[in-house]
Amino acid sequence: MNHATVIGTGSCLPKRIVTNRDLERIVDTSDEWITSRTGIKKRRIAGAGEENFQLASGAAQQAIEMAAVAADEIDLILVATFTPHMTMPSCACFVQAEIGAENAFAYDINAACSGFLYGLDLADKYIAANPDMKILLIGSETLSARVNWQDRNTCILFGDGAGAVVIGSSSDRGVRAVNLYSDGRLWNLLYMNSAKSMNPELQQDQHGCQIEMSGRDVFKFAVRSMEEAIRQLLRRENLTVDDLALVIPHQANVRILNKLSERLSIPKEKMFVNVDQYGNTSAASIPIALDEANRQNILHGDDTVLLCSFGGGFTWGALLMQW
Ligand code: UT7
Repeated sequence: MNHATVIGTGSCLPKRIVTNRDLERIVDTSDEWITSRTGIKKRRIAGAGEENFQLASGAAQQAIEMAAVAADEIDLILVATFTPHMTMPSCACFVQAEIGAENAFAYDINAACSGFLYGLDLADKYIAANPDMKILLIGSETLSARVNWQDRNTCILFGDGAGAVVIGSSSDRGVRAVNLYSDGRLWNLLYMNSAKSMNPELQQDQHGCQIEMSGRDVFKFAVRSMEEAIRQLLRRENLTVDDLALVIPHQANVRILNKLSERLSIPKEKMFVNVDQYGNTSAASIPIALDEANRQNILHGDDTVLLCSFGGGFTWGALLMQW
């Protein structure tokens, strides 16, 4: 049986850095509050020439270069995002044109912050069916365009960026096991409206296309859901935390990650954290972290790596891979 295995990673972040002090001038907040409640110190905010598909393409180009494959050898492009610059065509089609991957078919997936994990599971299924495939999987978001910059509850949390992986196949490495979940009943704890329907009868009373969130509820759910997903996955695979070389979680809030570490007894040095630098970049956060870990040579051949996430939907899950 062949598994999806990462053969190249890349990331692309906007040039502009916005610090907590910068935010003090926009909303009633403070560096002290943001740092102590979230661990975030700064985030990147996209500007001209940094549309979602452009960040995605930048990350893709790095990953393709590392994988040493030509763009026209890519068979499939998957972009996990809920902030494409156009609803149609997909961000993935724009990436295909931008990088010249003319032989690929391309589409977007939306599982909010869990999009990259869902995408990796999907890529694994494609590879199992056709081991010769080369898949470009990208997590890319421009959340700054979708937050309400007057709402201090949300605007301090998010940032823009993209991370990408090129996926090939292997019989002894790659995706080993995965647990994915959704619960649509909890949609209203974290959501973003679509553009208004053309049909006046379908129009809702809405505040515009901005992220709305019940922060405390999301926080509690995030800790509980990821903890349970990880416990179940490790149990099923007969592994313990000691077997893990690295945990790369969705980067939303350092307090969520600390709680997860405490509950599962994950040593600090095994938990990859960069939320202080980039804030929450949703579907991009895991591939950006994966690229950083890879380029810092933290990952070694045959390491067991655990990825986990939670996000709007609710969607959540955990995935194990042999590096
Ligand atoms: O990918 C998933 C995305 N979402 C998340 O990960 C969110 C998860 N939740 C969280 O990270 C936390 O709940 C927050 C960071 C959003 C909020 O932290 P909290 O400790 O749960 O604070 P809170 O919402 O209970 O608010 C406490 C106080 C409130 O004031 P009062 O009512 O006690 O007077 C808020 O109005 O903090 C106030 N507050 C702020 N103060 C300064 C809320 N936002 C801010 C702010 N600056 N930016």
